[in-house]
Amino acid sequence: MKITVLEIIAGIVGLLSGFQSLAHAADANAGGKKVLILYYSWSGNTRELAKQIQAQTGGDLVELETVTPYPTAYNQTVEQAKKELEANHLPPLKTRVDNLASYDVIFLGSPNWWYTLAGPVRTFLSQNNLAGKTVIPFMTHGGGGFANSLKDIKAFCPNATILEGLAILGTRAKNAQGDVARWLHTLGMAK
Ligand SMILES: Cc1cc2nc3c(=O)[nH]c(=O)nc-3n(C[C@H](O)[C@H](O)[C@H](O)COP(=O)(O)O)c2cc1C
Repeated sequence: MKITVLEIIAGIVGLLSGFQSLAHAADANAGGKKVLILYYSWSGNTRELAKQIQAQTGGDLVELETVTPYPTAYNQTVEQAKKELEANHLPPLKTRVDNLASYDVIFLGSPNWWYTLAGPVRTFLSQNNLAGKTVIPFMTHGGGGFANSLKDIKAFCPNATILEGLAILGTRAKNAQGDVARWLHTLGMAK
C-alpha cells in the first residue's frame, strides 16, 4: 500500500486534535476531579460569586439553607448572628449533601459574618468530615476580607488540603468574573 506524504500529515493532525479534545474533556472537570461549589448567602453576594465559579469550573452548585431562615431585616440578622457566635450556636441546616463522598474538590463559600464564617457554614463544617478533600474557600465581605475565616476553616477540617481562597467585596460580587477567572487559572481549576 502506498501512503502519500499528505496522508501522513493528515494522520498526524488528526492524532493531535484527538489528544487536544481528550485534554479538554479532562479540563472540563478540573483535571478529572469532581467539583462541588457549596455556599451560604444571606443577601445574594456570595451566591453571585458561587454562580460564576460554577460557570467557570463546571462543578455542581449547592446552596446551604437553614431550617429557620434568618430575619429579612439586616440589623436583626447582624444581632442574631452575633449572639449565635458568642453562644457557639450552630443553626440547624435544611440542606443535606448526601453524595459528599463523591467529590474531590469543594469550593466553600460564605459571607464574612463577624470576622468569620456565617453560622450555616460553621454548622456544615462541624457536621461533615472533609478529611482528604481539597477545600477552596471563597468569601464576600463588607471590607474585612477573610478575617479569621481561613484559620477557622483549618480548625474545622485539619485533614483537608486547603488551597488559596478568593475574597471579594460584596458590592463587587456581580462583576467579579475576571477575578474569578484569574484565580481559577492560578489554581488550575478553570474548565
Ligand atoms: C450578620 C452579618 C455580619 C457581618 N459581619 C461582617 C464583618 O465582620 N466584616 C465584613 O467585612 N462584613 C461583614 N458583613 C457584611 C457581609 O459580609 C457582606 O455584605 C457580604 O457580601 C454578604 O454576603 P451575602 O450577600 O452572600 O449574604 C456582615 C453582614 C451580616 C449580615
